[in-house]
Amino acid sequence: MFEPNVYVERRKRLMAQLGSGLVLLPGNDESPMNYPANTYPFRQDSSFLYFFGLAQPGWVGVLDVDAGKEILFGDDISLEDVIWMGDLPTVKERAALVGVGTTRPPAKLESVLLKAKANRRKIHFLPPYRAETVRKLSGWLGLPLKAVKARASQALSLAVIAQRSVKSPAEVDEIERALDVTREMYLAAMAMVRPGLHEYDVMGRIEGIALGRGCRTAFPSIVTVNGQILHNHGYHNVLTEGRLLVDDSGAEAPSGYASDITRTIPVGGRFAPRQKEVYEVVLEAQETAIRAIKPGVKYRDVHLEAARAVAAGLKGLGLMTGDPAEAVRAGAHALFFPHGLGHMMGLDVHDMEDIGETLVGYTDRLKRSSQFGLAYLRLARELEPGFVLTVEPGVYFIPPLIDKWRKARKFADFIDYGKVEGYRDFGGIRIEDDVLVTADGRRVLGRPIPKTVAEVEGATGRGD
Ligand code: GLY
Ligand code: MN
Repeated sequence: MFEPNVYVERRKRLMAQLGSGLVLLPGNDESPMNYPANTYPFRQDSSFLYFFGLAQPGWVGVLDVDAGKEILFGDDISLEDVIWMGDLPTVKERAALVGVGTTRPPAKLESVLLKAKANRRKIHFLPPYRAETVRKLSGWLGLPLKAVKARASQALSLAVIAQRSVKSPAEVDEIERALDVTREMYLAAMAMVRPGLHEYDVMGRIEGIALGRGCRTAFPSIVTVNGQILHNHGYHNVLTEGRLLVDDSGAEAPSGYASDITRTIPVGGRFAPRQKEVYEVVLEAQETAIRAIKPGVKYRDVHLEAARAVAAGLKGLGLMTGDPAEAVRAGAHALFFPHGLGHMMGLDVHDMEDIGETLVGYTDRLKRSSQFGLAYLRLARELEPGFVLTVEPGVYFIPPLIDKWRKARKFADFIDYGKVEGYRDFGGIRIEDDVLVTADGRRVLGRPIPKTVAEVEGATGRGD
């Protein structure tokens, strides 16, 4: 949590940008797993965290933009709560930590909203992503459940995105705090990976490191010998000699800031020659992309540059043919690199995706492509100093996709399907870092995590 003034300034800016109306920012509720008292770990809504800093379930923030008034709605604890949870600070005490002077019990919220509605004032809220929030907004505002999402405020969405996209030095410090823990997770994974273990041995160890440092994971870890399945959340495979383990994981700092790293580790501690060749292609694409990052550059162009590096590299290995730039224009590289280069990161690992992936990553003048591969790019817009984003190219051999394209003779001018056939069991390789856009370029965040072939093999303890 930051100093109260940080939250005061954020709210002031938001109100100045909106000009009028009421802003309704509901925090998240506890979410039951199998009965009400047995809940999933509580995670506060990120926009509530950004403007009100408090991780109390069920709280609601209201900004009356015309009156310049700020109210936090939350329940003080009862004697019964004290018995079960201890003597906790009052709503007033907590509100003071984020510079809010006015507090009310949640039961009073409805009358505030009814009055605003009666006076035909605009009530701004963000698109809800949890069923409870949809239900609450429906009740508060008298909207049919199905109409709630469509009534979210575009003006508020854009104002919040504009503010949250640019990270302050203190926010970057929090991300780097998360990255410190993530680095430990990677050093441990590299040191332990060996034939005979299960994926869950590695997953349990690295997630344990996050928890043991007072953090949690920023998203469900991907720890898989089937890296060609992009978001694989199963962990039951045995690690066997000759396979590659894709580890895409990251700690979330206690403040809520995320980290998101990927490394690909040879199970036996040494890359086979063919694995090394593909690894160098992905690494070259990632480093080319990182070097291209600076203010004013469109991230879509950085993505395309990485894609050209992939195509050129795979041409060098005989898997692709023809001109790499033409292959990328046509979309042929997407057989091997079918996802986007990266996304914004902050309080969410895919920052603000709840508000709208397209609103965050695209502009009125820059529309999403419909081409396979490029269509999945989450961030395309021009970069600005203070943006934090991931750079995560990969090369995968996805048998069902290979079979489909081969049968259709898709991009046969650019792809040597005969050669690709020999890589069917290869799996996949992805390499990911988190990067801050600076005034004149970029900075890879966090202390370096082994990344080159020699560094990764060295960190397994079984290299040369
Ligand atoms: N780290 C998972 C993702 O970026 O989707
Ligand atoms: Mn990512």
